[in-house]
Amino acid sequence: MIFMEEKISFIKDGLRLDGRRPDELRPIKIEVGVLARADGSCYVEMGKNRVIAAVYGPREVHPRHLQEVTRAIVRYRYNMASFSVEERRRPGPDRRSYELSKVGREALEPVILTSYYPRSVIDVFVEILQADAGTRTAGINAASVALADAGIPMRGLISSCAAGKVGGEIVLDPMKEEDNFGDADMPIAMTPSGEITLLQMDGGLTIDEFHEAMELAKSGCRQIYEVQRKVLIERYSQLEGERGEQAEVTACD
Ligand code: CDP
Repeated sequence: MIFMEEKISFIKDGLRLDGRRPDELRPIKIEVGVLARADGSCYVEMGKNRVIAAVYGPREVHPRHLQEVTRAIVRYRYNMASFSVEERRRPGPDRRSYELSKVGREALEPVILTSYYPRSVIDVFVEILQADAGTRTAGINAASVALADAGIPMRGLISSCAAGKVGGEIVLDPMKEEDNFGDADMPIAMTPSGEITLLQMDGGLTIDEFHEAMELAKSGCRQIYEVQRKVLIERYSQLEGERGEQAEVTACD
């Protein structure tokens, strides 16, 4: 309840409850290729959020009546583990997870070159292991890197984060307390060239606040994109190095 008392509770001396500036992202960590049995995988931490994404495919569609003759279909399943939130969540799909699966798929599909794989399916599974607001955006970031790790041809990586309004100020990447007691939360997803593939809003913003929040969220996406790009480059230069070493050993044999 302390959060609802006054605006000053959210931002004090220019800093937020967790010590961040209004335009600061939570610390972000991304690891690629974390699951041996998936075609592509990624683990993401954004603040206290812990998310894993696994990609399978392109592979044959089952049931077959779902096949599209000109392109691959993309399936995206967002699932929140029972233990990921403070009050144990009942396992299984619910209205929220259907919504987040739909918006996650729609955020990624525009960059996937689905016409390369007619009659097939690309399955994306996003598991939320620990939640602290912003799990849909963390899931999309993880899924985007996992798709690249699976070698799925894409027009670019998708990066995603939210901007919100708390204590009368527009802030980047709201965490749980800000999300719960703030005035607005606006998650977006973006291509590297700035095309928006996800835009949702909870709460209300004036038109000027909307533009401010949009610019802030876009700057957050650009920062996340740099991390996604860096980890993929590191991963693939490492694999390239390993392949080179193997080739040398074979040549010596
Ligand atoms: O996680 P995201 O912000 O994308 O979605 P949300 O529906 O706005 O949920 C915000 C936060 O509320 C989640 O990240 C969880 O921390 C929390 N939550 C929860 O505690 N129990 C649920 N059943 C759903 C969400």
